[in-house]
Amino acid sequence: MMQQRLIIDTDPGVDDMIAILSALHCQDIDLLALTTVGGNVSIEGTTRNALRILARVNRTGVPVYAGLSAAHTAQHVHGGDGLSGCSWPDSPVPARPESAIGFLTRELTNSGITLACLGPLTNLAAVLKAKPELACQIERVVIMGGGFGTYSFRAGEGVIESRGNVTPEAEFNIYSDISAARVVFESGVPVTVVPLDISQRTLVSQVRLERLDPVVAGILDRYFAFSRERWGTDAGPLHDPNVIAYIARPDLYTAVRGTVTILPNGGTDFEAGAGVHQVLLQVDAEGYLDWVWDRLSESGLQPFNSSAKRAE
Ligand code: BDR
Ligand code: CA
Repeated sequence: MMQQRLIIDTDPGVDDMIAILSALHCQDIDLLALTTVGGNVSIEGTTRNALRILARVNRTGVPVYAGLSAAHTAQHVHGGDGLSGCSWPDSPVPARPESAIGFLTRELTNSGITLACLGPLTNLAAVLKAKPELACQIERVVIMGGGFGTYSFRAGEGVIESRGNVTPEAEFNIYSDISAARVVFESGVPVTVVPLDISQRTLVSQVRLERLDPVVAGILDRYFAFSRERWGTDAGPLHDPNVIAYIARPDLYTAVRGTVTILPNGGTDFEAGAGVHQVLLQVDAEGYLDWVWDRLSESGLQPFNSSAKRAE
């Protein structure tokens, strides 16, 4: 497989962190840059986290460009620092002086680039507003966002439908900047959507956590406490790495083509058929988690790989 050239627009964010580490340790992906957006925490916090994640795995050569902020944060889920009180030190390397908007506007004119959006769509919408003609040049955007209610599960608070996690109808990344989401989905850009319908099926068990580097396990455990307490489950969802896994391993997912519409309340609607969007609606959940755990193993943050575990 030819290496996929990738830019990740992200608001780290605990699950964003695992997505970034997965991309950095995937031989099929050439990670060109990270652009940051304020989402889970402020833009200062997400940029700081992007830089320190890269520093932790000695990849400060990957440039980071800071972007804009959306309207909401999720500190009650990701902790005040955005990484559940992560003890990793700050990077000695700062973000680049150019803004994420300038960088993306310039870089996305090149062919062969996929943009992965793991936070609110604020940066990409700003790019498209500034330069609408870019919509026909951008080859592929894969986002985590939205929910279509094709999956439901019974939890402490009743039946949860995979439509929303901020409100029953709206998912965080779309809800945080509804007008930006509308700009992106109405622009004609080919967008593949990883919705809650996928990520709420990909729950991480305690057994998997125990196989990780203790710092990473602690970060994830504190992050999953929110879902465990809210839903009464013994596991939590790992949303954003699905975007990276889909790019590297599309065979783990089933995609349906059609058109996504952004509703005024931040909800998402989907009509299958002709259209420039794709929605992922099925996943091999264990295959996905094995893939992520193998990437963490390559990074040195998970001592055992999943095939070794299966052979025990
Ligand atoms: C999305 O919201 C954020 O809190 C996560 O990082 C993920 O991108 C899930 O709804
Ligand atoms: Ca995110």
